[in-house]
Amino acid sequence: WGMRIVVTRRVPEAALVELRALGEVVVSDADRPLTQEELQEAVAGASAIVSMLHDRIDGAVADAAGPQLRVVANVAVGYDNIDVPALVERGVVVTNTPDVLTDATADLTFGLLLALTRRIAEGDRLLRARKPWSFHLGFMLGSGLQGKTLGIIGPGQIGKAVARRAEAFGMRVVYSGRSQPKEDLLRVADVVSLHCPLTPETRHLIDAKALSAMKHTAFLINTTRGPVVDESALADALLANEIAGAGLDVFEREPEVEPRLLELDNVVLTPHLGSATVETRTEMALLAARNVAAVLNGEEPVNPVRR
Ligand code: GLV
Ligand code: GLV
Repeated sequence: WGMRIVVTRRVPEAALVELRALGEVVVSDADRPLTQEELQEAVAGASAIVSMLHDRIDGAVADAAGPQLRVVANVAVGYDNIDVPALVERGVVVTNTPDVLTDATADLTFGLLLALTRRIAEGDRLLRARKPWSFHLGFMLGSGLQGKTLGIIGPGQIGKAVARRAEAFGMRVVYSGRSQPKEDLLRVADVVSLHCPLTPETRHLIDAKALSAMKHTAFLINTTRGPVVDESALADALLANEIAGAGLDVFEREPEVEPRLLELDNVVLTPHLGSATVETRTEMALLAARNVAAVLNGEEPVNPVRR
């Protein structure tokens, strides 16, 4: 008892109930990400930190917490925001929240894909602009998905869930992972969808060279992490009609978006909503709470991150 659990941003109440059974729970009431300085101040004395993907948790944050820090539970499947070796070195367990967000993220990926290929967002904008229009056979034609090829980069759980949806839509699916080169995939795919974690190896995986290898008629979908794509090179490629369009849920410098992308009709943008359903966000927070409970009770956590 008396253990301090610091939560860096509001989380669903169900998770707080579980955390309060473990100790004193302090939730940041700033309705924004904490600055690095605020974060270091907030975590002082914590045995557990429940962190968000916008928090950079490094050795300095762990040191600011103190030697009693035992677990950092990231409420996200990705943990590129955490310096895992620095925490492991300090005896701190890192956990994430895989699986519970797989379907929600795959659904949003498909939503972006359909919004882009069938011009849903563009059509919505047209009507809201109160522009005159009438049905005709050549009006706002998009591209069908049946018989097209979806290229999935990073065939983890989310990539596989996207592939299942694609098959239901009559698409062929090709994968590229650590072993298969992405160049072959980029040449044949009508849609390229990114599902690899952000690591030093995948930063700018989709750069000018990769974009120029894609078909001129191909679409790019990114629902993983912004820096996997060179956003400026993507804007260049779109403006030069090197590819047909892009659906982006994540951005290189969130919450900023490359301004040129905002001007393009063949780009569909969502503000990092991959896991944003009531059900999934509750599951994610509960899973993080369960991971905190396990470590503080001296048990093996459900989702330890091992680098
Ligand atoms: C969301 O982006 C996550 O990694 O959970
Ligand atoms: C289209 O609206 C159709 O009826 O074919």
